[in-house]
Amino acid sequence: THVDWDVDVAEKGGYPDFMLKEISEQPRVVRDTLVGRMRGGELDIDELGLSYEELDIIDRVYVIACGTSFHAGLIVKNMIEGWARIPCEVEAASEFRYRDPIITPSTLVVAVSQSGETADTLAAIRDARIRGAKVFGITNVIGSPVAREADGVIYTKANKEIAVASTKSFIGQVVSLTLLALMLGQVKGKLTCGQVRMLFHELGDTAEQIQWIMDTQGAAIREAALACKDAQSALFVGRGVGSAICYEGALKLKEVSYLHAEAYAAGEMKHGPIALIEPGFPVIAVTTRSPVYDKTVSNLKECEARGAEIIAVATEGDEEIRAIADHVIYIPRVRDCFSPITATVPLQLLAREVALLRDCNVDQPRNLAKSVTVE
Ligand code: G6P
Repeated sequence: THVDWDVDVAEKGGYPDFMLKEISEQPRVVRDTLVGRMRGGELDIDELGLSYEELDIIDRVYVIACGTSFHAGLIVKNMIEGWARIPCEVEAASEFRYRDPIITPSTLVVAVSQSGETADTLAAIRDARIRGAKVFGITNVIGSPVAREADGVIYTKANKEIAVASTKSFIGQVVSLTLLALMLGQVKGKLTCGQVRMLFHELGDTAEQIQWIMDTQGAAIREAALACKDAQSALFVGRGVGSAICYEGALKLKEVSYLHAEAYAAGEMKHGPIALIEPGFPVIAVTTRSPVYDKTVSNLKECEARGAEIIAVATEGDEEIRAIADHVIYIPRVRDCFSPITATVPLQLLAREVALLRDCNVDQPRNLAKSVTVE
């Protein structure tokens, strides 16, 4: 008998596109990236490659990366500084390699690269190594140049990512960088073993929280996508770690839907971007419960007063946000530092929905490549 066998459909595992398949895999990526990392109540990163003594002398961290991987770095800056009390700068590799950064033997340079072969990122770590830095890699590809050339590595366990715009790798990167931040906090004696264990478990809880978003927020996300579909431009705003989430949300939207998007720290809106707002202008706001929630909401009121169409990503149970937002997408309540892992998911889905409404190929956007091995 004849069997219809569509290779493409089989590879996509029943999903209409790789982007949705890969977004859906994110709960598994969180679990797999964490599996085996806690042994006998202690954080254990076997490929760490750096001794506790080597980690203990670290007094400065640079996270260097490109594209979405750069945004993963932005998200983890506050964790490294907050938990280990070490200054941490996050820079685009293409910039870092052409300046004269302050590097000493007690500097840790962390390269984040899904492919492990991005030209600018590789050049930056080679240069950092010559200057005497310790180099650490976060990558998705075993044996890739970044993995080979670093002193130590954490693998993101996303498995092969096919859609050009990165989704599941990003989640794996944020989780891996969080492990590194916990490790630094522990080695520096700024976090107790009990605190590390508690944070580790909360980090693991994000797997279920992502699943909840996928299972319950589809209709709200589609409704929000319709509000963006015919726009010329969109603005993503948030504060604190929320602003870092916005950079990734805006990048995703640009990449797959070709809709111009810009991300801005909400408190800076009044110094320029507010001039863009006119009736119907889409403003996507990350307004999760955090110490700066009230500040973000008051920034948003200024957008509302000028007629913006407001899409808010908010914490489940927050009804008061409905007074200013036209569309609300909920995420479960989570510790502020872990909110990027969950809050990015609706923004990935939003970008995909807008792209589909605009008839774009979500897996292979024009002009973009999955890995960029030339400068
Ligand atoms: C390309 C891809 C992006 C990716 C960036 C960095 O631009 O299209 O999705 O974030 O490269 O890639 P890397 O492999 O170094 O993470």
